[in-house]
Amino acid sequence: MSEHVVVEREQGLLTLRLNRLDKKNALTRAMYSAMAETLVQADQDPSVRAVLITGSEDCFTSGNDVADFIQAPPSGLGSEVFQFMLALFEFGKPVVAAVSGPAVGIGTTLLLHCDLVYVSREAILKMPFVNLGLCPEFGSSLILPRLLGHARAAELLLLGERFSGAQAAAWGIANQALDDGAATLAKAREMALRFQQLAPSAVADSKRLMRAPDREQLRRVIEEEGALFGQRLRSPEAIEALTAFMQRRPADFSRFA
Ligand code: COA
Repeated sequence: MSEHVVVEREQGLLTLRLNRLDKKNALTRAMYSAMAETLVQADQDPSVRAVLITGSEDCFTSGNDVADFIQAPPSGLGSEVFQFMLALFEFGKPVVAAVSGPAVGIGTTLLLHCDLVYVSREAILKMPFVNLGLCPEFGSSLILPRLLGHARAAELLLLGERFSGAQAAAWGIANQALDDGAATLAKAREMALRFQQLAPSAVADSKRLMRAPDREQLRRVIEEEGALFGQRLRSPEAIEALTAFMQRRPADFSRFA
C-alpha cells in the first residue's frame, strides 16, 4: 500500500485520500496500484456501501506524475493507471468525489466515472492532454462531447482550457459547487454516508442500469484512446512537452510538422 494514499473507514464509507502534497498529489504508479487494489477489495466487501475519493482541502491532484510519464510511460491494459481506471469503471457501488484546488488531467477524467461529484467553487479543472502532446483518455472523448456539446468539449479537450468548480457544476460534471474545501468534503461525506441507510443491491442494480446503455461503446473508446495515449506518450511531441514541464519552460512545438 502506498504511503501517499490514505484509506479511511467510517461506518460503511471507505475513503481514499490522496496525500502527496509536496507534489500536489501527482499520481504515481504505486498510488494507482494502491487505489486499484483497494477498490477491487471494497467491491467484494459487503460492509462497504460507498467510496469517497478526495485529496486535501486545497488540492485534489495535479494528475499523472510527469516524471513517471517520462521514465516509465504506461503501456497497455496491464499498466497501473489502467488497472485503477478499470477498477473505477467496473466498481459496482456508488463512488463520490470531493474536489478542491487543482484537478488536472486524470484528476478531471476520473470524475466522469464517479456517481456524485462535489467541488469547491474555486477548484481548477483541466485536461491538458493535447498541450502535453497527448490525447484524451479513458472515455472522455466520448463522454464530454455528449455531456457538453462538441464546441464546449473542444475548448476543454483540444485547447486544454481550464474551468472552475462553479462551471463544472453548471455544466453537469459536478453535482454542486461549495464555498471551500472544508464545505466540499463535508457535503461529499454527508451524501456518501446516505448510502449506509439504503438497500445495497437496489443501489447497485440502479447504478448498473444507469451506466448500461453506453457501456460497450465506452469500452471500445477507452481501448482506442488507451492505445493511442500509449503511443503518443512516446512521441517526440509529448517528450518535448513533458521535458518542458520538468524544466519549467513552455513547450516548443514549432519544429513539428
Ligand atoms: N507530476 C510531477 N510533479 C508535479 C506534478 C505532476 N503532475 N504537478 C506538480 N508537480 C510538482 C512540481 O514539479 C513541484 O515540484 P518541486 O517543488 O520539486 O519543484 C511541486 O509539485 C509543486 O508544483 P508547482 O507547479 O510548483 O505548484 P503550483 O501551485 O505553482 O501549481 C499545478 C500547481 C497543479 C497547477 C501545477 O503543478 C500543474 O499544472 N501541474 C500539472 C502537471 C500536468 O500537466 N499534469 C497532467 C498530466 S496528464
